[in-house]
Amino acid sequence: MATKTASSTAGQTNGKTAYSNGQNKENPLEKFFHDQLKDMYYAEQQLLKALNEMKSASTTEELEDAFDEHLKQTERQVKRLEKVFSIIGQKPEGKKCEAMDGLIKEGKTIISETKEGTMTRDAALIIAAQKIEHYEIATYGGLVALALTLGKHRAAELLDKTLQEEHDTDDKLTDIAESCVNFEAEEEDEKSEHSMDTSSSNF
Ligand SMILES: [Fe+2]
Repeated sequence: MATKTASSTAGQTNGKTAYSNGQNKENPLEKFFHDQLKDMYYAEQQLLKALNEMKSASTTEELEDAFDEHLKQTERQVKRLEKVFSIIGQKPEGKKCEAMDGLIKEGKTIISETKEGTMTRDAALIIAAQKIEHYEIATYGGLVALALTLGKHRAAELLDKTLQEEHDTDDKLTDIAESCVNFEAEEEDEKSEHSMDTSSSNF
């Protein structure tokens, strides 16, 4: 495939490889793959804290349980990323991910702008969590493809396992929203917000 620009010095600085980190020499694509791993390593760790807050803020037991389950899953995903770092001969290291920071910030805003004990809060939390899942799905999907391209099949397998978990979480959140939360949120009015009895819901 033709590229728009070509440079004979791409990836080189003053005759030295620009992407050497002192441990393993990496070509530009390997460096990008490594950077994306760092991005997700940071993102998953931030998410551990955020999921705890989202779990505590949930109105329904269903959503609380879903966040709790994903919290445990995320802990395993962090360990899995550490295995991938090890496979590529690098130490686990995070790199600030502005996108995840922004998505988590949005989740916090939702908690502060919705009332405790309301279905509206759960409906909004589900959407905030799904935005996070979709970011993770995009990144892990790309990482699996890159790992395969780079011939790192074991890394691809591990990353694909996480990718499937993110898809499953996304589907589960959709089920919770569509089975009840959205409908009950639509029924809420200002007065019912404080007196809502969630024990009488269908959950
Ligand atoms: Fe994750």
